[in-house]
Amino acid sequence: MTTKLARWIFVVGTLISLVLFLGLTVDTHRQVETLTNASQLSPQVIAGKRVWHKYNCNDCHTILGFGSYYAPDMTKVYWRRGAEGIKGVVRNPEKFTTWRKMPRQPVTDQELEDLVAFLKWTSEIDNQAWPPQDQKLRPATGRAVALGVSPGAVLFQEKGCFACHKIYETGGLLGPDLTHVGSRLDYQTIEKVLIDPRSVNPQGTMPPTQLSHDDLDELARFLANLK
Ligand code: HEC
Ligand code: HEC
Repeated sequence: MTTKLARWIFVVGTLISLVLFLGLTVDTHRQVETLTNASQLSPQVIAGKRVWHKYNCNDCHTILGFGSYYAPDMTKVYWRRGAEGIKGVVRNPEKFTTWRKMPRQPVTDQELEDLVAFLKWTSEIDNQAWPPQDQKLRPATGRAVALGVSPGAVLFQEKGCFACHKIYETGGLLGPDLTHVGSRLDYQTIEKVLIDPRSVNPQGTMPPTQLSHDDLDELARFLANLK
């Protein structure tokens, strides 16, 4: 190949890429209003964004790629947790988060409502699957509803029961789906399963869980009410 040819390939290649890049950028900007549902930017949503910045949530979290990568991306958190789930985490982060710590912050009730409105709005942005989110978790809003903030629900999450059991479409497949476990088993039986899974199912594979008396009661009550 001559130097001249190489130069031409470089120049033409760069020009084509540049035109494509500019074209796609302009095209995206044309659609921003629609993709972001700009018409739904209510004063509450805007107030929620201010709360997001007031408490520097993006010191740890990202939305649409902006922020820090220590904690989960929050663009679609509303799908994962629902309104009550988000409130639960912000009020009691030590209960809902794992080894990666989230600090408790003095967010007021009104600020929390605004924050939820903002995160609901971001969840509706059509980000065309970028940055990648677990979009399939959408039906899991039910998880937040199921979890609510009852102590039994918190324990279910804390003790790792989701690893093997599903509630409302979320969770693992090793054990039975527990969405309606309360209509199959009564409180006493559930308590027995939790104390000693083998006593109910001798061939079973569910591991026993270490639970205090109170925790056992809360967890069994939570499950018995899942009808
Ligand atoms: C110092 C870092 C830090 C700050 C600041 C912070 N968070 Fe978090 N947050 C975390 C971590 C870490 C997790 C995930 C913990 C885990 O692994 O379970 C988390 C999890 C969450 C979740 C659950 C996420 C999910 O995917 O289900 C929500 C909701 C949340 N944070 C909201 C907020 C809000 C709102 C603010 C601002 C008021 C905030 N966080 C500020 C560190 C932080
Ligand atoms: C390693 C997987 C695994 C974990 C973790 C696990 N389970 Fe199970 N669970 C099972 C399996 C498998 C069964 C079916 C019976 C058996 O094999 O013992 C079961 C059965 C059950 C049942 C009876 C359901 C029915 O319809 O008969 C309940 C209730 C239950 N588990 C609750 C829990 C709770 C609460 C936790 C958390 C403390 C938990 N499980 C953790 C695997 C698991």
